[in-house]
Amino acid sequence: MPVAPPVHAVQPPMNWTLNGSAVATVQDARQTLLDYLRHTAGLVATRMGCCLGQCGACTVLVDGRAVPACDTPLWSLAGKTVVTLEGLGTPQAPHPLQTAFIEAQALQCGYCTSGMIMAAAALLQRNPLPTHKDIRLALDGNLCRCGVHNRVIRAVADAAAAMAQTARPGGGGCAAAACPTTESDQ
Ligand code: FES
Ligand code: FES
Repeated sequence: MPVAPPVHAVQPPMNWTLNGSAVATVQDARQTLLDYLRHTAGLVATRMGCCLGQCGACTVLVDGRAVPACDTPLWSLAGKTVVTLEGLGTPQAPHPLQTAFIEAQALQCGYCTSGMIMAAAALLQRNPLPTHKDIRLALDGNLCRCGVHNRVIRAVADAAAAMAQTARPGGGGCAAAACPTTESDQ
């Protein structure tokens, strides 16, 4: 575990990867990943909810693990790989989870949706065919005020089934460049 630099210190250049692209940042030691994504990189799919690491709205992948961006200091990302919803898929080549959430109408206001999808992406990376109980446990830290949990579970299960189908020989796969599930399928 790296040691946090002193408050008010300015970091030396730090190299990491964001949605498949190399990034070099010099940032205030107090800046969080969520602040960087939304206010420096302009990647606003990652939502700002509680800012206390408790609601899951800001979930992103760091080295394939689902983490709250609001509780992740930028200085801790040296050498790491971050994927946000924008890196998971595109409108032209959506990730199966994005397709499944739309088809299952697994959202109402949509505020929790990107965090839900990123937490589900981490789950499918380590467990390609989860049970409904697995899905519930994996998304336990992602709150939804609109109460669409049952549709979310169905969407994640549908995405897992679709990915299992396309992972078969000749079945293709996810086209998103930064998609962690694509990497694990290869
Ligand atoms: S905004 Fe990060 S967990 Fe709530
Ligand atoms: S769809 Fe509104 S908070 Fe989840």
